[in-house]
Formats: sequence, structure tokens, C-alpha cells
Amino acid sequence: MSSKARNELSEWQAVAAQAPIWQQRHLRDVWGARSASTRTAELTRTHDGLLFDFSKQRLDASVLNDLLALAEACELPRAIERLLSGDRVNQSEDRAALHTALRLPATSQLVVEGEDVVPAIHASLARMSDIVSRIHAQQWRGVTGEAISDVVSIGVGGSDLGPYLATQSLAEFAPPEARGLHVHFVSSIDGTQLADLLDHLRPETTLFVVASKSFSTIDTLSNAETAIAWMRTRISDRARILRHHFIGVSAKPEKMTAYGIPESNQIRFWDWVGGRFSLWSGIGLPIALKLGMAGFKQLLAGAHAMDTHFAQAPLADNLPVLMGLLQVWNSTFLGINGQAILPYDARLKLFPSYLTQLEMESNGKSVDRLGKPIDYATCPILWGEVGSNAQHAFYQLLHQGTQPVACDFIAPIRRYSRDDDTGSSLQHQQQLALANCLAQSRVLMLGDATRQGHHYYRGNQPSSTLLFDELTPYRLGQLIALYEHKVYVASALWNINPFDQWGVELGKKIATATHSVMTGAASADDYDGSTQQLLRVIADGRAGWERASSRADKEQLS
Ligand code: F6P
Repeated sequence: MSSKARNELSEWQAVAAQAPIWQQRHLRDVWGARSASTRTAELTRTHDGLLFDFSKQRLDASVLNDLLALAEACELPRAIERLLSGDRVNQSEDRAALHTALRLPATSQLVVEGEDVVPAIHASLARMSDIVSRIHAQQWRGVTGEAISDVVSIGVGGSDLGPYLATQSLAEFAPPEARGLHVHFVSSIDGTQLADLLDHLRPETTLFVVASKSFSTIDTLSNAETAIAWMRTRISDRARILRHHFIGVSAKPEKMTAYGIPESNQIRFWDWVGGRFSLWSGIGLPIALKLGMAGFKQLLAGAHAMDTHFAQAPLADNLPVLMGLLQVWNSTFLGINGQAILPYDARLKLFPSYLTQLEMESNGKSVDRLGKPIDYATCPILWGEVGSNAQHAFYQLLHQGTQPVACDFIAPIRRYSRDDDTGSSLQHQQQLALANCLAQSRVLMLGDATRQGHHYYRGNQPSSTLLFDELTPYRLGQLIALYEHKVYVASALWNINPFDQWGVELGKKIATATHSVMTGAASADDYDGSTQQLLRVIADGRAGWERASSRADKEQLS
């Protein structure tokens, strides 16, 4: 690999030389030119039921060729091989990143440092399958012998967003045996979600899944402790509570055991699975509980199909590669540092928030693989919402604001198979959603320069559109894997490590210290004035509140 910094590569400079042209050129003129006749074909790819149209992006075939040459110069094919074969691509943590191995069929073999990892993966899947079938068959009983009706998944970040997304977006695929089971998600450290939920549940019929790769995340452990406190209002014995009402999912079996979770209630995964890439592991238990193991395996199959495409397709026809190159082009070369994810399907409401972690925790970096500072832009700020809802929220900024934003439009073509009046009305709504999806990407691109002032639309906002036939577990697996690999491709061009997240540590450390101040176990003397003031207000507020509530109690008592 060249020791040159990325932006010293001649291929990088060739791409950079194209940027000023495309910062000026308006897509309206591009589509007005004679060359537009071939543009759609040149900038559209289809693969396995997915259509990826990037002809509304600010580039043409010559820029694409330069980007592909840059990908070769960055040895992307080798980087892909290294990822899929289990090399220690996560340099700063000296680990492999083998989320793709989790979706390998049982008949596969993947030997990593002398060990075939596939048998252990499928052993873990078998344990998951056993737990799922016992709960579906109502053989998993609580302390009082009652069957489980509610499962509460406690986790945060990668131990929450993926399972939450898949469970919510694919609920209609729940098999009959899972229809009576309610799956809930709790993540926030302040206890809000748990407090709301516990009022509606019964300890006797509730099972908690404590999902944490590190099994040391305070958000998750504090929620788990509150759940145990709630269980203890009915069942005093902590060990019995953990045996009948808790499952642990983690890469730290010793910590689950130390916490008191019996080995039989543990599902383990491995350090070489990144948290934000972990929904394919035991972390996906809530998905399997809602969709059944068959549905979960369909999700894995869709992702595996995308892994095969990523490994085998030539770069120019490789969807994750093209999406990664476009992100680098927009963010690093065109200076477009905003990216909006706009699914025109409300079932994918959680997809943008899932991607905020996948993309920004992966590529929100400013040092290269060796820790040396880099002087070019990396991951854009990513956000999103259900597209048709966002039209009534932040599209004003997309159309008439001052910020360039690259958009991903995502939509299924078909929905609703019921053939009654409601069905045809729903299909009409689906058509409206598609019409809005196409219209918005078109207006963002072309704008309207025929009118001025409040009615002027600048346009030239780049976008891609991803269409697929129907949303199914297979399709969602494919879609998520597509974005996972896109993230990896962009990281390879930026020469950054997408698999670590050192930036989250300091805040956690300071939070622990700040909490010690709040409990009186430490002082804030050397803290900044603002934090000292806020600590005082909180302490006074709590004291004032405690004084007030004890006064109220006293009055009540009197
Ligand atoms: O703080 C960030 C992070 O470590 C994420 O990378 C991870 O997905 C999340 O917290 C939860 O971590 P864990 O699964 O170890 O509880």
C-alpha cells in the first residue's frame, strides 16, 4: 500500500480537479444537454430486486471513472477481501470485523487464524432458536409458572437500534406463534421508557433481555437494575428472578455470569462483531422472537446475498462501492456535509436513526488508521425521517435553505395485498407516497428558476433513489448490509478505521465523575463555572424539591 496520504495520490487529485466544475454546474443544465440521453443508463444499476438510480447526483461517467480509479489506487478490492476473510481490519483494537460471518450458511467454512468460526456461530444460532421456540410454545415459564407474554429488550446503541428497527419494520411478518408475544425496547439511561412500560406489564409474565456487547454500559445496567427492583416488588429472590425472567446477550460471558445470569440463559457473541454491526448475532433475539427463526434467517440470507455481491461484483457495478464513492465525492470533494435518509415507507421510520449510528459512529473520524490527523472531510452529518412526513418538517430547508444536502430516497414499489375497499384505498396511498418520492427528488434536483424571491427554488440538491419490489425480512437484510458495506468503502477511501469508537469514552468517564459529585462522593472545585453552577442548581433543586415533597408529605400526614 502506498505510504502517501490519500490526498497525495494522483487519482485523488484527478477527482479533486473535477470538483470545481460540479460545484458550479447545475443539474438542470446537465439534464438539458444532449449527453443526458445516456445518463440514466450510465448512472443506474440493478441487483437482486434492487434498483439504484444515482443519475440525480452531481457527477457524470467521467467523474465516476475517476472515483473508480481512486478506489483501485486505495486498493479497495484487497480491503474488501481482508474484511470478508477475517483479517484484523479493526487496527486500533487489533480485531477482525466479521459481522458478515454471522450470516454465512451452516455449510460454509471460514477459517480465521486457524479456527473455523462457522460452527460456533451456528451453535449460538441454535441456542437462540431453542429459546425462541420455548417462548413461542409457552414452555418458558416465569417464577409463578405463567407463560411469557411480554419481552423487554434492554440495550442501547448497536444493542438496541438494529433489533428495534427490524422488529418494528417487519412486524407484519410475525408467524402465528409469535402474534401473542409483545416485544418492547428500552434504552434511555433516564428510565423514561422503562417507567412508562412497567405500568402496563406484570412481573410474572415479563422476560427481560439484557443486551450489551461489553456488559458494562451504565445505561443498560441501570435499566436492568430498575427492572429487577420492579420484579422484586412481587418476587424477592434475585437468583430466581434472573433464572426465570432474564436472558443475557453479550460478548462477555464472564460478566453475565458475575451478574447472576445462569449460563443456560446466556447467548454469547464475539469481540470481532462490532456493536453497530451486531443485529445478526444473539443481539437479534428480539427480532427472532417477533419474526420467528425462519424470518430471522431470511434477514441473514438477504444480508449474505449482499455480502456475495460485495465480494464478487466488479467495482463499477457494485452497489455498496458506488454508494460509498458517492458519499466521498459529495462530502470530501463537493463539500456537501449533510446527508438525509428519506424512506417513503413508514415501516422504515427507524432506519435513519439506525444509520446515524452505523455511519457516524463508524466514519465520524479525523485521524487515519495510524492515528495521524487527516485534512479532508470525512463522514457527513446524517439524519432523516419518513420522507412524506419530512416534507412537512425540514424539506423547506432542503428546497430553499442555504445548505447543500445529499439525499437518499428509499421506497418499496408494492404493498398491501388485501383486495377489499380498504386494500385499494391503501394501494392508492402507496401510489401517493411513490409520486411524492419521485417528485421531491426531481424538484430538489431541478428547482424552479422561473420565479424569484420566496418562490425561487435553487435546486441542484443531489440524490439517489433506491427502489425495491416489497419490504420483506430478506430485503431489509440486504438493505442494511448494503449500507454497512457502503460505510466500509467510504472508510477505505478516507483511510480511516470504521470499526472503533474511541470518541465515546471520555464523555462516559466524565459522566461517572460528575455523578460522584452529585452523590457527594467527589468535589467539583476544579470544574468550570458553568458546570459548577448547573450542579448547584440541580443540588438545590433536588434539595428544594425534597424539602417541598417532605413538606407536602407532612401536610398530607397532618
Ligand atoms: O458508547 C457507544 C457504544 O459502545 C456503541 O458502540 C455500542 O453499540 C453501545 O455503546 C452499546 O454498547 P454495549 O453493547 O457494549 O452495551
